[in-house]
This record gives sequence, C-alpha cells and structure tokens, in this order.
Amino acid sequence: MKDVAVIGIGMTKFGELWNKSIKDIFVEASLKAIDNAGVDHIDSMYVGAMSSGLFVGQEHIAAVMADYLGMGPVPSTHVESACASGGMAFRQAYLDVASGNSEIVLAAGVEKMNDGADATAVLATAADQEYEVYNGITFPGLYAMMANAHMHDFKTTPEQLAAVAVKNHHNGFNNPNAQFRSEITIDTVLNSTLVADPLHLLDCSPVTDGGAAVILCPLDMAKNFTDKAVKIIASTQASGTISLYERESFTSIKAVVKAAEKAYKQANLKPSDIDFAEVHDCFTISEIIVSEDLGFFNKGKGGFAVQEGKTSIETGEIPINTSGGLKSKGHPVGATGIAQVIELYEQLTEQAGKRQVKNAHIGMAQNMGGSGASCTINILEAL
Ligand code: COA
Repeated sequence: MKDVAVIGIGMTKFGELWNKSIKDIFVEASLKAIDNAGVDHIDSMYVGAMSSGLFVGQEHIAAVMADYLGMGPVPSTHVESACASGGMAFRQAYLDVASGNSEIVLAAGVEKMNDGADATAVLATAADQEYEVYNGITFPGLYAMMANAHMHDFKTTPEQLAAVAVKNHHNGFNNPNAQFRSEITIDTVLNSTLVADPLHLLDCSPVTDGGAAVILCPLDMAKNFTDKAVKIIASTQASGTISLYERESFTSIKAVVKAAEKAYKQANLKPSDIDFAEVHDCFTISEIIVSEDLGFFNKGKGGFAVQEGKTSIETGEIPINTSGGLKSKGHPVGATGIAQVIELYEQLTEQAGKRQVKNAHIGMAQNMGGSGASCTINILEAL
C-alpha cells in the first residue's frame, strides 16, 4: 500500500442554505478543494451522502455530481453509511490512492436537509425499522436512552452533558463556517426545550445543509502541488448492531471500540499519542461515550473529563471537537465526516486561527452512522 496525503480542502458554510441546491453546495465545496490543492484534474471521486433521495428527491447522486462538477467521464461512486457517509467516502478515496488504482482523488460529502422533507423521519430510516422506528423511536430518543443508562451507571449529570455543548459552541464561535456561532452557558442548555429526556434542544446537533471536500494523492506526489500536505496514518472501519436492544451495553459503542483498536494498531499509536480529535457529537452524550470508547478516558469518566476542562482547546490534555463539532458547526450528515478531516488538516497545517491547538501533530477523526452501527476512524499526521 502507498502512503497517502491530503493536499487540499474546501467547504461551504454550514447552516440553512435556502438559496442553494444540493448541486450548488457540492460543486462549491469541491471546486474550493480542487483550487486549494492546485490540481488540474482528478482521476476519481467519492460522494458521501446519506439520503439525497428522501431529502431532495435526487438519487444517482454520484453521476449527478460528476456531471455538475464538469468531471463527466471520471469514475464517481456514492458512499452511504448514514451519518458516517462522509468519513466512509474519505476511507474509500484513501484506499483508491493507497492501492495505486488512482492518483488524484476527490472525497466529498454533501447533504441538503432543509428543503421541505421531514428531517426527523428521513434520519430515522438509518435506525432499525422493524423493532425501533415502528415503535416510534427517533434518534433523539435512542441517544436519550443511552444518556439515561450512562447517568444511571456512572453518575453522569445533566450539567456534564451540557458542558459538552458549552465547549463546542465556544469552539464553533471561532469557526467562520459554523452554523451556530454563539457562546452558551450550562443554564442556557438546561433551560432549553426538552427534546427527549434528558436531552434538551441544545444537547442536539441541528438539521443542516452543507458540503465539504478534500483532495488526496500519493504522499510522494504531494510536494508537486503544495507545501501544506498531511499524511494519513490510519483509516479503519467497523460495524455493530443497529438496534439498541441487541447490544451488550447501552454505554459503549462496539463499532467505535473495534474501529479504534484497528486504527491504533495501524498507526502504531496509543490513545495518549493523539493530540486532538474530532468526534461524532450528534448529541452531547455521544461525545462522552465516544471519548471513553476511544480510550481517552476510562469508562464512566467522560462526563467528568469535559466538566474539568480536559477536552477544551485552552486547558485540555486532549482537545475534542475544536471545530465546534456537529453540535455547533452543524451536521449535514453526508458532509460531516469530510468536515472533520478538514478540521484535522487546518489544525495540522496551523491554519486554524483562534481554534489552533498548540503543538498539534497527530489528529483523529471519528465518524459514526446512526446510533453507532457503523464507524470509521481516520488518523492524520503533520509533516
Ligand atoms: N442547536 C441549537 N439551536 C437549534 C438547534 C440545535 N440543535 N436546532 C434548532 N435550533 C434553533 C433554531 O435555529 C431556531 O432558532 P430561532 O428560533 O432563533 O430561529 C430554534 O432553535 C427552533 O428551531 P426549530 O427548527 O423549530 O427546531 P426543531 O424543534 O424543529 O428541531 C431538533 C430541533 C433538536 C429536534 C432538531 O435540531 C434535531 O432533530 N436535531 C437532531 C438531528 C439528528 O438526529 N441528527 C442525526 C443524529 S444521529
């Protein structure tokens, strides 16, 4: 396998983009990445999107995007793994380059969730239909059950959940592409509308439109295009049970644990070697559970860690979601995994401005589908 680098990035602002179509969003992000990388062509492209058919009525999304990007003959492949579609598209692009099959590859993700569709119902298609959705559960409900179990088993508090949202809004305040650029307090979170007990409105990631794109190439070609390349040192994937009722535990996500084991082995690293991470905080409880499953904190200690500032940019031993995370930056589901890689790239090339983590050398992106039935982990290293 060849070593692979990320050599360019591009994304739209995340938010309610009422005046842009899904094609506009995809093309804007992709052209920015192509321009940023300084490449004059691509050999193939991967499109992460969860459900363009249900959100905007457009299927056959890979060919549509290649066409609108002006890349007609280039092989274009749609990758779907619910909210992990972007991270999985990145992994497929990585494998395409690492195998020697392609040289310059676009990995992009897109979702247009605000276009009249019932976003809650569309998202729920990524949960088990027969036993979960049929009985009325939605994603806020599934994560609320996980939160209740975590609070019961480990004395995690609503204030600790809220501390995740406060930190991520603080980070997103300094991210020009974030959907919500507002500082909030623990009280704002606890006094916001209860969505699914114990999760309040401000414990939830929002419904977002947005696109994100990166360009990959063999590491030994990177210097032909840019002096700002970063190396991919691990790219892994794992699957788990889709239904909560089939899980051994409500407070750990097996696909995350398995993908992490493989990623640490591939990169020959341990959790303490990671300088910062973007993790899948679709709800505040998911950041806490994932930060434990990735080995950053012992099981049950994730809530205490965020409350004690251990995951903040300013005081943290492992800053988490420096971009603002899904909570503040927004969660256009198919684009999220690519946007996480963009934050890694900006941090590792020291372009993160006020969000810059000091001495950022190794960053991890963890992206998962639904309530954790799929997970991909990518680890990048500064050169
Ligand atoms: N965080 C912060 N503010 C939010 C927000 C969020 N998650 N969601 C909505 N808002 C704001 C809106 O901007 C709006 O503000 P305004 O009145 O100043 O314009 C206000 O709250 C009400 O917005 P609205 O769109 O009516 O909220 P809603 O009740 O329809 O949706 C949620 C709120 C939490 C239910 C929705 O955001 C949601 O379903 N989030 C989870 C998405 C999800 O499941 N993703 C997949 C994860 S696996």
